[in-house]
Amino acid sequence: MPDPKAVNSMFGRIAKRYDTANRVLSAGIDRGWRRRLVEAVGRHRPARVLDLATGSGDVAFAIARGLHPSPEIIGMDFCQPMLDEAEAKRRMSRDPEESKIRFLPGDGLDLPLPDGSQDAVTIAFGLRNLADRARGLAEMRRVLRPGGILHVLEFSQPHAWFRPFYYFYLRHLLPALARLLTGDRDAYLYLGDTIGKFPSREELTAEISTAGLEVIAAVPLTLGIVALHSARKPAAG
Ligand SMILES: C[S@@+](CC[C@H](N)C(=O)[O-])C[C@H]1O[C@@H](n2cnc3c(N)ncnc32)[C@H](O)[C@@H]1O
Repeated sequence: MPDPKAVNSMFGRIAKRYDTANRVLSAGIDRGWRRRLVEAVGRHRPARVLDLATGSGDVAFAIARGLHPSPEIIGMDFCQPMLDEAEAKRRMSRDPEESKIRFLPGDGLDLPLPDGSQDAVTIAFGLRNLADRARGLAEMRRVLRPGGILHVLEFSQPHAWFRPFYYFYLRHLLPALARLLTGDRDAYLYLGDTIGKFPSREELTAEISTAGLEVIAAVPLTLGIVALHSARKPAAG
């Protein structure tokens, strides 16, 4: 499991270039992944949404823009430089829904939110960074109301035939490209390393179920590079 201090300081180092690096390294496909996440959230018409590990806030902004009526959104992260980027974008925004988002500091392993306070929790490319995924999932379950939905967008294990190409990209091309874009090759060596170890769709489904949530969808995106899991907190409990 990743060391939280190292994760925090790594995201602090790359915060200012995070958005640009994302767009280039995923060839812009990441926008489509977040759009699919927003569609999944919208199906359940939540009034209060927590976007955990919000980083520079892209999921929170996409939800504010994409859902009508827009829910009350909290974007939460434990890395202040990433939250500063999110907050700067919020202040620059002319969209009234985006300017209502609250970006707050908070640790996914010990959420500063009451039990049952959220209709939906989203976490995009954050779960693999948590030092203790089981504890993080238990916290997400705690803050969801009964019947509330957790949506996890995360790297997964791609279709078998595509793996050799993908791992070559992750181990060789991605760190080199990332050094050009962020000046921090190590951060993206870490990315390749954590993605390689991330559970498959079936394994993550089992982890989420073990945390006491009912998985209602587990959808592979872009040859299975990424998966979108949605899971409901049971009505009783
Ligand atoms: C790869 S970024 C994803 C950001 C954003 N969700 C997106 O889709 O672009 C991962 C984020 O997880 C945050 N993170 C990692 N561990 C965390 C924890 N225990 N609590 C809160 N945030 C955490 C990092 O600070 C970082 O901003």
